[in-house]
Amino acid sequence: MEGKVDTKMLSKFEKAIDKARLILHNHTSLLRVGCRPRQLHMAKKTTPSKVQALYELCKKTFMPSATPHLSSQAVHSICSLLDTVSPSDVGLKEESPDDDRGLGIFGLNGLNRVARWAQPITYLDIYECDGFTMCIFCFPTSSVIPLHDHPGMTVFSRVLYGSLHVKAYDWIEPACFQEAKGPVRLAKLAVDEVLTPASGTSVLYPKSGGNLHSFTAVTPCAVLDILSPSYREDAGRKCTYYIDYPYSTFAAGNKAEITDEKEEHAWLAEVDTPDDLYMRSGIYAGPALQP
Ligand SMILES: [Fe+2]
Repeated sequence: MEGKVDTKMLSKFEKAIDKARLILHNHTSLLRVGCRPRQLHMAKKTTPSKVQALYELCKKTFMPSATPHLSSQAVHSICSLLDTVSPSDVGLKEESPDDDRGLGIFGLNGLNRVARWAQPITYLDIYECDGFTMCIFCFPTSSVIPLHDHPGMTVFSRVLYGSLHVKAYDWIEPACFQEAKGPVRLAKLAVDEVLTPASGTSVLYPKSGGNLHSFTAVTPCAVLDILSPSYREDAGRKCTYYIDYPYSTFAAGNKAEITDEKEEHAWLAEVDTPDDLYMRSGIYAGPALQP
């Protein structure tokens, strides 16, 4: 009797072991195809992550369809929450200027000094739908995202670590073109400053706040961006790149002669996507979103 019990127990035990092996096998298979352990871990958590809270707020604010004119209360709510986000909340480790690989947690060990100069800007996609995009850009020192626009969009930007120089323009309304020396359009400088985490969240709107901007990394830095609505070429929201010329370059003969603040005005000319824009996509390693 005792022997039979032992056999039964052994059989049960073996089945349990087999089951455990199967679970382990499936688990490691998931890992092999890219399911991140952090996602499995986060799924068990009951407290929503900061990113989850941000996602929920964006869904409430921008869905089902993105509102072109957000209430000041809605803007304030998103800014207040973004202001509290730290690098670790989105799976990033702060880069120090002495350790400039510009890749957040994806740093590559053993790079020599020459290779470091060639590091790309890393784009991390957190979430994207028609209504809004949540993403992160990780910049190595001196890297640049050239002047580009956000047609009809509102963009919230929060520097998570490091220092980022932002230069931003808005179009002069009504539109003022200069055709004589090529199709250039007049814009006014809206922002020209270095942003850090202490600067808080900055917001640009479809027609104000610096809808056309360029970024230059003063130190290794990362920016969490929320764009609404998302870029969609078929809906007329295509990203266009520009170069800026001082006002004096094309001012002669211009109908809308500007007498004051000439240094705050510039002519912008459309250009193709710059060849030297070196960007690659990385894997977002922060808490997974629960839809
Ligand atoms: Fe931008």
